[in-house]
Amino acid sequence: MSSQFPAVRPRRLRKTPTLRKMFQEVEFDLDDLVLPIFVEEGVKDFGVIEAMPGVLRIPESKLAQEVEKYARAGLRSVMTFGISHHKDDVGSDTWKEDGLVARMARTIKSTVPEMVVMSDTCFCEYTDHGHCGVMHGHSVDNDATLANIGRQAVNAARAGADVIAPSAAMDGQVQAIRRALDEAGFHDTAIVAYSTKFASALYGPFREAGGTSLQGDRKTYQMHPMNRREAIRESLLDEAEGADCLMVKPAGAYLDIIRDVREASRLPLAAYQVSGEYAMIKFGGAAGAIDEKQVARETVGAIKRAGADLILTYFAMDFARDGI
Ligand code: PBG
Ligand code: ZN
Repeated sequence: MSSQFPAVRPRRLRKTPTLRKMFQEVEFDLDDLVLPIFVEEGVKDFGVIEAMPGVLRIPESKLAQEVEKYARAGLRSVMTFGISHHKDDVGSDTWKEDGLVARMARTIKSTVPEMVVMSDTCFCEYTDHGHCGVMHGHSVDNDATLANIGRQAVNAARAGADVIAPSAAMDGQVQAIRRALDEAGFHDTAIVAYSTKFASALYGPFREAGGTSLQGDRKTYQMHPMNRREAIRESLLDEAEGADCLMVKPAGAYLDIIRDVREASRLPLAAYQVSGEYAMIKFGGAAGAIDEKQVARETVGAIKRAGADLILTYFAMDFARDGI
């Protein structure tokens, strides 16, 4: 063996911080991030979410000042989730002109017009049973829900939402929304579809945050976590129905799916680092087991590397404040 062995030494390009930075293949910045926010009506104070340290329920009266803070910090976009005190069996508050969905969009757009508002479009936070649509016996009635979801989308668009983000996981929801938006003249309102959404236990903390009253699960409408072929099929269906951007949710445990959808479609792709992913990192950091900041950076970076253009993450404001 010659003294030259080994000839191939990848370590040459890792020698200094500058070299490592120069040869870094993937990075993300604030323009790639969307901050999901929880806005509660009818309360005065911020609400603590035990399962999501660092995330607060925002009282509606303080939404404007919060959004100004995000904009000053450099965030571009928020995904709005309402915590409703006006629930009924169908979630009718969502299509009322003075309902919470519309008010959130209106408040944000009138405070910071350039903030991109993505309106999470579902019913579970506005129904007394906590399911994502209209119940028929013990299951969610797909087609009855479609009629309502179009009304909610038009309501949000009229209030100024830039993006409709349907998360109800009903078949045909993207087409129903596209038709309703176009009929109402909102040709330029985009649809970022939760196109591949798994029935994941990683949504656990969100259920506390969003104040949903769900008994049972969403396994008849959200996807089985073990289904890779179906995951691609679901996203391609939403593309065919007119989605402008696809999404995989959750993100970290589904990097293979992000890569699959990236390769199967030319649409932009979002991925949602969900509440359970956030909580595991926060609690792991608080316990001293991992470095929270570094793991946040690494996991969001990995989601980007897997093929996501946009990442929804509860760490967005932390990145804006502390740097990436
Ligand atoms: C409801 C909805 C959920 C999330 C976003 N929209 C929960 C669910 O489907 O049960 C989860 C987000 C998160 O866990 O961070 N349609
Ligand atoms: Zn829902």
